[in-house]
Amino acid sequence: MIGRKIEIPKREMPSPLMIREAREVEAATLVRLKKQVFAETDSLLQSLEDYDGDVEEERYLVRRYRNLENSVLILALEGREAVGFLTLQGAHLQRSRHVAQLGIAVRKDRWGQGIGRALMDQGLEWAEKNPIIQKISLMVYEENQRAIELYEKYGFEQEGLLKNEVLLRNREQMIHLVVMGLTLDDQP
Ligand SMILES: CC(C)(COP(=O)(O)OP(=O)(O)OC[C@H]1O[C@@H](n2cnc3c(N)ncnc32)[C@H](O)[C@@H]1OP(=O)(O)O)[C@@H](O)C(=O)NCCC(=O)NCCS
Repeated sequence: MIGRKIEIPKREMPSPLMIREAREVEAATLVRLKKQVFAETDSLLQSLEDYDGDVEEERYLVRRYRNLENSVLILALEGREAVGFLTLQGAHLQRSRHVAQLGIAVRKDRWGQGIGRALMDQGLEWAEKNPIIQKISLMVYEENQRAIELYEKYGFEQEGLLKNEVLLRNREQMIHLVVMGLTLDDQP
């Protein structure tokens, strides 16, 4: 259920974690979170260079997610501060609107505390209840074993490989993208 409070069992947390759908008033903390995660990890397709961090634009995005029937933006909040987010972005075309693309990121200083799993739990629960979504897809760097493990725990399967899809200029390296998918009907 979106809005449930979750106590993270692994470690003492400064305040309880709240996992729920983002609200427009959270645009500013979402901007702070995105700026931080885009700066501290190379593992996301979006980088700080592609992000202008405009609060009004973020507010518009949050509103858009709330209004689209096949999309959701979920936040992990410690008090009023967002420390992680998960997006399920439903496709627009009639023949593919049953598919949502998943994106997830957690602030680095909170990694390994169960926040990723808490976000995945809520995201999948939302998708299972959603009358349109039947499949969740995602793309992940081949080297991002931490994320691949997380997805496999939820039943995602590797469906393909897009070779040299990412170019990391700071490392002068091209990276393959693993395409992963979970068809909700397939779940036990
Ligand atoms: C991937 C990510 C969201 C995981 O978030 P997290 O809060 O650290 O995840 P959790 O603490 O809930 O751990 C979930 C799983 O991740 C994996 N994991 C966690 N810590 C790990 C570590 N130190 N090494 C390897 N795998 C690890 C494990 O499979 C773990 O499951 P377990 O707790 O049952 O062992 C986070 O590392 C992140 O934001 N990374 C940068 C952005 C990114 O890569 N996003 C995905 C792009 S496709």
